Amino acid sequence: MYGLVNRALQEFICTHHGDASWQSIKNMAGVDVELFVCMESYPDEITYRLVGAACELLNIEPAALLRNFGRHWVLFTGQEGYGSLFDGAGSSLQEVLINLDHLHLRVGLMYPALKPPSFRCTDVRDDGLTLHYFSERPGLASMVIGLIEGLGERFGKALAIRQTEDRASGADHDIFDIRIA
Ligand code: HEM
Repeated sequence: MYGLVNRALQEFICTHHGDASWQSIKNMAGVDVELFVCMESYPDEITYRLVGAACELLNIEPAALLRNFGRHWVLFTGQEGYGSLFDGAGSSLQEVLINLDHLHLRVGLMYPALKPPSFRCTDVRDDGLTLHYFSERPGLASMVIGLIEGLGERFGKALAIRQTEDRASGADHDIFDIRIA
């Protein structure tokens, strides 16, 4: 994944657990990169190893860490100059979720080696929708829950999110039922 993701992970860990923890996590993960370059593409394995080491060292369940990181990602990208991409993607939570593939398509103009996930919305209503998540990468459903929560915060909406289908349990793809309070 692009260095932007690893940089966001670094910022997330340093903010909540301090710089020394990040150094220990990198050491434990055997990642010998002084500073990730946002626009450079790194093997996915590096990100997975960092997340694994962070969970072990900080004694956090992967699902909890990924979910909090997802929420942080929305904040981080909003502050790192990508806020206009959110604004361009829609003026309601439903619109942004419907336009997620288009948003990543625009990200791909800046990051040509991007391998983005894909999303489809069904049963779109005023008070919620069903979100389908497709990815070539395993194990990131909890991050998607955090990302949706982060978007909800951006729109000042309280959400109830329930995963109804799980790829980890053999489903074709992950499905989330999202209700807006
Ligand atoms: C302006 C905001 C955003 C930017 C700049 C952005 C950019 C990126 C980048 C650079 C990656 C790494 C992929 C790669 O390097 O191949 C990524 C992955 C991902 N993005 Fe976004 N993204 C944004 C918003 C969102 C939102 C709102 C969601 C909501 C669900 C989302 C869902 C994901 C997921 C789940 C992945 C993990 C990769 C995978 O599932 O295969 N992104 N995004």
